Amino acid sequence: MINIAIDGFMGSGKSTLAKGLSKKLNFKVLDTGAIFRAIACAYDKKGQDEVDEDLLKSIIDKIVVKVVFIGDEQHVFVDDEDYTSELRSEKISSLASKISAKSFVREKYLDIARDFAKNNDCIMEGRDIGTVVMPNADVKFFLTAGESQRAKRRFDELVNKGVAVDFDNVLKDLKERDYRDSHRDIAPLKPAEDAITIDNADMTLEETVDYCYDIIINKINK
Ligand code: DC
Repeated sequence: MINIAIDGFMGSGKSTLAKGLSKKLNFKVLDTGAIFRAIACAYDKKGQDEVDEDLLKSIIDKIVVKVVFIGDEQHVFVDDEDYTSELRSEKISSLASKISAKSFVREKYLDIARDFAKNNDCIMEGRDIGTVVMPNADVKFFLTAGESQRAKRRFDELVNKGVAVDFDNVLKDLKERDYRDSHRDIAPLKPAEDAITIDNADMTLEETVDYCYDIIINKINK
């Protein structure tokens, strides 16, 4: 199987790049953040504001998490509940970042992600894809762009959805999540040694997709 890894900070354009590449390569995309988000939704239903490790562990021990593709769209089910429409709120973003630091949560996710890589030519995006999930990926990209630029992308996305937001709050949340995701003990966000780092602050989507596509094709043809 051909495996392409994309890691990077929030708002660095991982999902957009993954989708653009998938159209050209006809590979499946796994958005791994959605798995943590779905687990965060299941936890959130318990009505706890803070992360209680014992409660989280008891949930993780019981639930079955499944990624299902309906057409081209990735859905994540926890037991029989499809949480896909609930994954993108700011509350779930922050909770997903917090629970993802726990080893027992990551173990559950790793099984799903590795199984997917084993059975599909795929593009997988997340935080630890090139370092932990697919250390032998054929090509690894690490995307980055400045904090303000990434916060502006997130801000615009929320405004377009009709959500009332304050730019300074979006920037503050982004900094907190970046810090948590890159400073946790297990599988912190960092570029793999053999990753190609791309700062896409001044690149259009098409330029980024074309640039990465050429690298992949060169590598596959070798
Ligand atoms: O990519 P995202 O914003 O949907 O991810 C949500 C959170 O999940 C992110 O803050 C950290 C966590 N995550 C992770 O720890 N490892 C991954 N491979 C993907 C996401």
